[in-house]
Amino acid sequence: MYDHSYEVGLSKDELDTPALLLDLDVMERNLRRMAAYFAQTPVKLRPHVKLHKATPALSHLQLNAGAVGLTCAKLAEAELLVASGIHDVLIANQIVGARKIQRLVNLSAQADIMVTVDNADNVREISQAAAARGVELRILVEVNIGHNRCGVAPFEPALELSRLVTSQPNLRYMGLAAYDGQNTIKVDPAEREPKSLEAYRTLIATRRYLEDAGIPISIVSTSGTFTYRYAAALEGVTEIQAGTYLLMDNTFRDKGVTEFDCALSVLGTVTSRPSYPGGERFAIIDVGRKAMDIAWGLPGVLSPTGAVVTSLSQEHGKLQLSEASITPRVGDNVELSVSDANNTINLYDKFYALRGGIVEAVWDIPGRGKST
Ligand SMILES: Cc1ncc(COP(=O)(O)O)c(C=O)c1O
Repeated sequence: MYDHSYEVGLSKDELDTPALLLDLDVMERNLRRMAAYFAQTPVKLRPHVKLHKATPALSHLQLNAGAVGLTCAKLAEAELLVASGIHDVLIANQIVGARKIQRLVNLSAQADIMVTVDNADNVREISQAAAARGVELRILVEVNIGHNRCGVAPFEPALELSRLVTSQPNLRYMGLAAYDGQNTIKVDPAEREPKSLEAYRTLIATRRYLEDAGIPISIVSTSGTFTYRYAAALEGVTEIQAGTYLLMDNTFRDKGVTEFDCALSVLGTVTSRPSYPGGERFAIIDVGRKAMDIAWGLPGVLSPTGAVVTSLSQEHGKLQLSEASITPRVGDNVELSVSDANNTINLYDKFYALRGGIVEAVWDIPGRGKST
């Protein structure tokens, strides 16, 4: 944890680059919009903090806006959330192996942890470790609703594993989890609603199948930023795990999430104006792939307007300037929009949280790079 007090009050142009910028007005608007949506449904929001890697300020803002608890993907993220004073945490992932299970039950001594399972041996191991540590863990059985990543098959396999969980000491069976990642980026936005409704109907039918067999279900946790509206409208779903809505990126926006705005950008500096033939149309910047994830495409250019990024190598980016773009000089700033918020945030130590171009806060990103 560094002392950032000397950076508060600086203007954007005074920051060293590459720097990850967060527009507070935009983030707060996204936060309010999502909170307003969930205020009028019985379904609760349990935001996924993989987006910002458990950044404490953002996690607490989400809880203060009405979230029922938080979701994370990694034990390391859960540990950071608990260390920042957060009590109700879902690890929407399988926690496997003696070392990690030890960490899991240890964390459960400090907070109310919930974890997903899809394997009988794993259930028994968690139960034994929880009993040895004298703690109780909340468990969701993960069901595969078409994403074909983790999860047991719906209906009978989900019932069998749920029965096992209810029979094991020191485990509190809560219900079901399922993630519909098949209906996100790669699906035509026009097909997203019918396809996700089909997946959720399987999940809800599995819930009813278990209830008919005498298994009480109090939580059914699912969905994300692309599909929360479809899931939240269905009776039988109780929690939504959306995360990216808070800060957004170009990919989510271009693939059909229009009700939230992009709060992130990366500030860079022009480091060279090439002198080779044709080079006058280009500027080289200090933002490369180590400062901007491009798995979903190259970033956009917010400034200078009209320029485009043509390539990113590891520590360099190449901007093609248009006739209309202001011709930047070496040392001038550029600002890029982000095509993958989740992975780009993981490349930075801190957010510069700006309002009107002035640094209002600097937030360390404690979970960045932590995947254990
Ligand atoms: C288990 C789980 N839940 C929810 C989400 C949704 O997150 P987002 O809001 O970023 O789409 C994801 C995304 O990968 C996930 O893996």
